[in-house]
Amino acid sequence: MTVYKNLQENLKNNPKIFLITGVAGFIGSNLLEQLLTLNQRVIGLDNFITGYQRNLDEVQSLVSSEQWDNFTFIEGDIRNSEDCAKACDGVDYVLHQAALGSVPRSIKDPVSTNAANITGFLNMLVAARDAGVKSFTYAASSSTYGDHPALPKVEENIGKPLSPYAVTKYVNELYADVFAKTYNFKAIGLRYFNVFGKRQDPNGAYAAVIPKWTAAMVRGEDVFINGDGETSRDFCFVENAVQANLLAATAEDSAKNEVYNVAVGDRTTLNDLFSALTRALADNGVTYEKPPVYRDFRPGDVRHSQADIGKAASKLGYRPEYWIQKGISKAMPWYLEN
Ligand SMILES: NC(=O)c1ccc[n+]([C@@H]2O[C@H](COP(=O)([O-])OP(=O)(O)OC[C@H]3O[C@@H](n4cnc5c(N)ncnc54)[C@H](O)[C@@H]3O)[C@@H](O)[C@H]2O)c1
Repeated sequence: MTVYKNLQENLKNNPKIFLITGVAGFIGSNLLEQLLTLNQRVIGLDNFITGYQRNLDEVQSLVSSEQWDNFTFIEGDIRNSEDCAKACDGVDYVLHQAALGSVPRSIKDPVSTNAANITGFLNMLVAARDAGVKSFTYAASSSTYGDHPALPKVEENIGKPLSPYAVTKYVNELYADVFAKTYNFKAIGLRYFNVFGKRQDPNGAYAAVIPKWTAAMVRGEDVFINGDGETSRDFCFVENAVQANLLAATAEDSAKNEVYNVAVGDRTTLNDLFSALTRALADNGVTYEKPPVYRDFRPGDVRHSQADIGKAASKLGYRPEYWIQKGISKAMPWYLEN
């Protein structure tokens, strides 16, 4: 039995109280679904700036009414310290996902990104510390590797940030580390690499590549590739990220106050991703025959990204169950329905 399966059994027999910030978003709502399915009590905080009520409604439709009754939603804002304190009250484990994502959004509006991602993060640290939570697991980012050229990315070797978003995610790590040293606070940062899966928003200027391209393909529209298509990413199916969160939250103290890569340890170019999505659509009866349209590279983007997941494997027992193809196949029916 894997460490994760074992943990799932333990949680079922010994329910805890989790707080998910950003619960109406993509990763937050997937965490909610998994935790409610394991009969945990969950408090969720969100201000719906990029999250949706429909994500919560969909989770409700996927769990039993008893499980849904274990969920308490607070509409609130992490930029407001009172909302943070209210949400943290009585909580065992915090899974902090709320933030303004997207590199281009942060280049356009660094002040808003800073407010949610740094002020909001600090408010959450203070509230979680004051509430005496058992652990604080937060969404860090592979963007922290910045201009460091080495591949695969190993946690201790980072470069300079390439965008305001990357600055905010790195500052999160610095604050978490200082809270650990100053207040004996138990934080774990999960550096997510390009997470994808159901409930990831396909619309808007800041949509992520997989839902955006899939939506364009389904509508028969052009697919735009920024650059020559040889830019590569370690695409991580959301269920792997959920696994990492649950393992991190409940990890031994010796595994806390660390950051971990959360990915699969593989690398797919945008050209190969285009082909993989075309094939997965064909498997679902949708034909897309247009070639991709190449345009300029996007500022702030790193060229290649691939994680070394050895640290999460050895210290957390993390074993990603989904490689990119398997994840795309699992997510495709949802993309097509939605
Ligand atoms: N998706 C990825 O590939 C990826 C990669 C690296 C890091 N991350 C990080 O993971 C986390 C979750 O990302 P996601 O992809 O689910 O994005 P998302 O936009 O779907 O979810 C973020 C959620 O946070 C909420 N939120 C934002 N600001 C808030 C505020 N001030 N107060 C309360 N709620 C607020 C939004 O309404 C939304 O529901 C973020 O911290 C993001 O930076 C994501």
